[in-house]
Amino acid sequence: MKTAVEMIEAKKRGQTASREELRAFFGGYMEGKVADYQMSAYLMAVCLNGLEPSETLALTECIIESGTSRPRENFGRPVIDKHSTGGVGDKPTIVLLPLLACMGALVPTLAGRGLGHTGGTVDKLEAIPGLRQMFSWEEGQRLLKENGAAFMTQSDEVARLDKRLYALRDVTGTVDSIGLITSSILGKKLSESLDGLVLDVKYGSGAFMRTFEEAEKLARSLHKVSTSFGVRTEVLLTDMNEPLGEWAGNGVEVMEAMRMLRGEKTEERFYNVTMSLAESMCRLAFPNDRKDFRKELEQKLKSGEAYERFLKMISGQGASAETVSKLDEILAPPEHCLVVKAPESGYLREIDTFALGKLLITLGAGRKVLTDKIDHKPGLRFKLRRGEYVDKGEAIMEVYSSRALDISEIPEIFSIGLEPPETGEYIHHLNKQAEK
Ligand code: URA
Repeated sequence: MKTAVEMIEAKKRGQTASREELRAFFGGYMEGKVADYQMSAYLMAVCLNGLEPSETLALTECIIESGTSRPRENFGRPVIDKHSTGGVGDKPTIVLLPLLACMGALVPTLAGRGLGHTGGTVDKLEAIPGLRQMFSWEEGQRLLKENGAAFMTQSDEVARLDKRLYALRDVTGTVDSIGLITSSILGKKLSESLDGLVLDVKYGSGAFMRTFEEAEKLARSLHKVSTSFGVRTEVLLTDMNEPLGEWAGNGVEVMEAMRMLRGEKTEERFYNVTMSLAESMCRLAFPNDRKDFRKELEQKLKSGEAYERFLKMISGQGASAETVSKLDEILAPPEHCLVVKAPESGYLREIDTFALGKLLITLGAGRKVLTDKIDHKPGLRFKLRRGEYVDKGEAIMEVYSSRALDISEIPEIFSIGLEPPETGEYIHHLNKQAEK
């Protein structure tokens, strides 16, 4: 078997390691026989030379096996999950869990916290006072049995190797490798015994993958590895060159998700991306059913059934009756509102969505360092979408904050021009993409 230095040297030369070599190397790391500095050097070599598909598969296996996950009881329902690579205003998970549970699926999603400039579902839902998201195995099972879904976060026991590798990657500039991202995401997701998995890979200025081409490479890698584990998988590529929905923040995003769950009208992109993900989840959950899932999903929203399920879920997870009765008040944005106006007339050409994520961090809605406490109140409200015409002085965005702000604190985010920008489809299906 190769030593740690030999593994690093081999990857530096672009050689492919065998499954056995990788198992010994990552196993040795978990046992303390490979040092953090050696693993960091190896990860950098991977970032420069990439992982072959066979190596990505082997690393995914190592991550799954490093945890103590137990196969979940499925209570006679198809087990379905979704994952998003993250963005700004990315809130479909809050709608999808109760909605898919109403359709008869079991959705054991383990959500995460914010990462970099992107928000996390766990942080958003903490805007609901008293809501618990960390459960023992038995408690999690009970909640899933009762409601078909639960808002849960990952315990320390799942995918231990990923926890250690991710912490190293975060501080050594080694996050952006397709192979490492694939194994990190799927190592966690496939630790649950899933029948189907829907992946939402974001591209654009507010995503980790800035270009469509990069996102497509990641999408293909995720699809290949996930299906080779025998999990039915669909991958959507969705646009993050502008935030998803009318609102971005924490409490305000839960509020927007609740509006959709109540069947109220919500921003078109948010609605369509969420419904496309929901349809994919239904196709994977009920592969022999050829019915029009969209119609049935819409019915669950309009009838109030999905919202009822959401309220039942949060009540079962610690939200008091008083909290539930005052949710709209609790999740409303704070009183200070600064309006960002168009400096000139023209078409809204570009939105620096990454800068919007950073602005939310400045407002306290995200973390600068791991130990920062989140302010769940601040939020951004988008009055215009890319490609729309704006008159000089018209509002483009409202910034809601817990303290009074000055316009000089808002970075340049929007570019306006005389020509409309190119705006095309914002939802792409990987498999249909391959057919083109
Ligand atoms: N999300 C993950 O879980 N892992 C990565 O490596 C990147 C995004």
